[in-house]
Amino acid sequence: MDRILVTGGAGFIGSNFVHHVLAHTDAHVTVLDKLTYAASEAALAGLPADRFDLVIGDIAQPGTVEPLVRACDAVVHYAAESHNDNSLEDPSPFIQTNIVGTYTILEAVRQHGRRLHHVSTDEVYGDLELDDPQRFTEETAYQPSSPYSASKAASDHLVRAWVRSFGVQATLSNCSNNYGPWQHVEKFIPRQITEILMGRRPRLYGTGENVRDWIHTEDHSSAVLRILERGRIGETYLIGADGEKSNLDVVRMILRLMGRDEDHFEHVTDRAGHDLRYAIESEKLRSELGWSPVFSDFESGLAATIGWYRAHEDWWRPHKEAVEAAYAARGQ
Ligand code: NAD
Ligand code: TYD
Repeated sequence: MDRILVTGGAGFIGSNFVHHVLAHTDAHVTVLDKLTYAASEAALAGLPADRFDLVIGDIAQPGTVEPLVRACDAVVHYAAESHNDNSLEDPSPFIQTNIVGTYTILEAVRQHGRRLHHVSTDEVYGDLELDDPQRFTEETAYQPSSPYSASKAASDHLVRAWVRSFGVQATLSNCSNNYGPWQHVEKFIPRQITEILMGRRPRLYGTGENVRDWIHTEDHSSAVLRILERGRIGETYLIGADGEKSNLDVVRMILRLMGRDEDHFEHVTDRAGHDLRYAIESEKLRSELGWSPVFSDFESGLAATIGWYRAHEDWWRPHKEAVEAAYAARGQ
């Protein structure tokens, strides 16, 4: 694969993948990104001009997508509206980008016979009880809870239908919650770190007993590249790093790592339809493709992430107050 098109490559996870591909392969990367509020061109600064370019455009526009797909060997599809809370306020961009956008990509890869890797989330499976011994596997039934997760579920179904009905050469992955540098301050971990840096208290939705399964974004990128290079066409791979933690434990760990009292947080209004627990069984990816995560110690990965936000206040500060104003309006 000499030329890879990365949709959403200016976002949190897509930009990490772009760096990963340029560091670990000889491929040329073109990013297609609409540069929504969630994008950050700074995350792509300094990349080699002869191996990288950025096209600003919408994945739901066939006239934009078709020539870019024609010009590449493979598409890695990250572009999405990605925040659950925003999807509860206004689902429409989630339907447009996550469903119509994925359909538009599928039609272009079908027309030109290109390889596709579709990036999705474990949230398509709904949630687990706290004491359920089962984790999500590739066989778990879809049961999405929010407009975001339902739109991602719809996009996964479209990809599988295009594989089966039209012979599109696609793989899929569903990953657990990512953390690391360049994550927007609307998301849980960056929000809490930056609240503390601003002298305020972290905010826990509801009781804080909800569990998320954390993976460093660099480990997500290495898994996606492995699937792109060695995954079996038509197959789905779950990506996870055995990182289950309750939100309460994560907030306490952040407070401790930042030298604050572990109880110095607030409980705020819970999210509507808040999924209780996500947990990934990634044995298929590990045994079939020989992948394993590098960031196996969550606490040290979190400490490094805190250091990154301390050092990059210029990047997050301009977005912070608007994000907090929207949360405050919802009592969160
Ligand atoms: P993000 O919100 O940080 O970035 C999304 C990017 O997509 C942005 O750069 C944005 O400008 C771009 N984009 C949005 N709409 C677009 C459109 N219509 N056309 C072109 N570009 C558009 O999201 P993220 O957290 O980096 O997530 C990336 C992907 O990974 C998503 O598909 C998401 O569902 C999936 N995922 C995320 C997580 C997580 O923990 N964040 C976990 C598993 C899977
Ligand atoms: P989030 O980062 O939005 O990811 P997702 O909804 O995809 O899991 O939230 C992670 C968890 O943190 C989720 O259980 C909601 C919770 N949360 C809080 O408790 N407080 C907050 O301020 C935010 C943004 C999220």
